[in-house]
Amino acid sequence: MSPSPTSTDWEAGLVLRGVEVGPVAHGGHFVARSDGRVVFVRHALTGELVDVRLTEVSKRFARGDAIAVHRASPRRVMPPCPVAGRCGGCDFQHVEPAHSRELKRRVVAELLGHHAGYEFAGEVAEVPPSPLGWRTRMRYHRTADGRPGLLAHRSAEVVPLPEGGCRIADPAIADPPAGPAGGEVLGVAASDGARFVGPGDDRPVVEAVRDASYRVAANGFWQAHAGAPDVLVDRVLDGLRPQAGETALDLYCGVGLFAGALAAAGASVWGVEGDRTAVELARENVPGARFFAGDVARRFDRLPKRASLVVLDPPRTGAGAAVMAAVARRRPRAIAYVACDPAALGRDLATVGGLGYHPVSVTAHDLFPLTHHVECVALLEPK
Ligand SMILES: C[S@@+](CC[C@H](N)C(=O)[O-])C[C@H]1O[C@@H](n2cnc3c(N)ncnc32)[C@H](O)[C@@H]1O
Repeated sequence: MSPSPTSTDWEAGLVLRGVEVGPVAHGGHFVARSDGRVVFVRHALTGELVDVRLTEVSKRFARGDAIAVHRASPRRVMPPCPVAGRCGGCDFQHVEPAHSRELKRRVVAELLGHHAGYEFAGEVAEVPPSPLGWRTRMRYHRTADGRPGLLAHRSAEVVPLPEGGCRIADPAIADPPAGPAGGEVLGVAASDGARFVGPGDDRPVVEAVRDASYRVAANGFWQAHAGAPDVLVDRVLDGLRPQAGETALDLYCGVGLFAGALAAAGASVWGVEGDRTAVELARENVPGARFFAGDVARRFDRLPKRASLVVLDPPRTGAGAAVMAAVARRRPRAIAYVACDPAALGRDLATVGGLGYHPVSVTAHDLFPLTHHVECVALLEPK
C-alpha cells in the first residue's frame, strides 16, 4: 500500500490508502484520522481498514467515502440493494440491521449527553416493517432517458433504480414507470391506496390512524415509515396522559396527527403549522381544534397564555431557543418533543433545561431503517 499524501495536498477526489476507521459520528459518518487530520468516512464501520476517496476538504477536516475495504468489520453485510453506495437514499445498507440500531443508540447517547447532560440508557426500538419496504413516501427523479431513479448523495445526479425497484419503499410504490426525461414522480402508499403522483395531480390521500382519518396532500408532509404514526401517537399519549378539558398545543402540527389524538382524548387543541395547505387540511381533519398558519416562533401571540400540554415535532433544525422559551412560559405540566435529529433535540433540551423543564424519559425508534436517521421522543416535566 503506497503512503497517503500529506494533508496539505488534499483535495476532493484524492484517495487515502489504508485508513483505520474509528467510532461512529452523527450523520452516518465514522471518524478516522490520517496525517493528523480528521476524516469523516461514509460506508465504513468501526475497526475497518479502508481506502477513502475524499469528497470534501476544509481546513479543519475532510469528508470521504470508503471505496475499498482491506479489513472488514464482522458487522458488515452484503447490501440488499445493488445500487447502495451510489444512490444517496440509504447510507447504512452495509451494516447488519441490529448493529445499525446500536450505532444509532451510541449517537443518541453521545449527543444528548454532550448537549443536554442527559444520560440516555435506552435502546433504539425496531418498528415493523423493517428493514425493507417501510417507506410510504418516495420522491423519484428521471434520468435523461426517462428511467426512474433517486439522487446520489449531495448531488443532482440521478442513479437509476435497480431491477425490482427501491428496496426500502413500500412494494406498491417501489418501481415507478418510466416517463418524461428529467421529471419527478412521487410514490405515495396511503391507507386509501397507493399511487404514483405526477405534476398537476393534487388529489389528497387519506391516512387512517387509530379511529381517525387524516386527509394529506399527496406531496405534503406525512410520517414516512408505515409504522410511525401509531408508534409516535402512542408514545405522545402515554407520556402526556391528556385529560378532558385540558388545553394542549400541537406545534409544527402538519395535517393534525397529534392534534387529532389529543382532541379525541377530550383536550382543547391549538395547532400551528407553516404549510398553508396542511393547515387547511388540519381544520377538516380535526374540526374541533383551532389551527394557525405561519412560523411557530411568530404565532405565539395567537395561542393561549397558559397550556397544560405541548407537543412539538419540528423539522431537522429543531425548535430553537425562542420557541422553547415561549413553550416554557405557558407552564405546561408536560411536554412531548418528537425529534428527527438528536443533535437539535439535545440543544433544545439544554435550552428548556435552563427554564425549569427536564426530560423524564427519552425513547428512540428506528423509523428510518438502513439509514443513519433515528426518531426520538422526549417527555419533559417541570423540575
Ligand atoms: C416533522 S413534520 C411534523 C408534522 C406533524 N407533526 C406530523 O407528524 O404529521 C414538521 C412540520 O413542521 C412544519 N414546519 C417547518 N418549519 C416550520 C416553522 N418554522 N413554523 C411552522 N411550521 C413549520 C413543516 O411544514 C412540517 O409539516
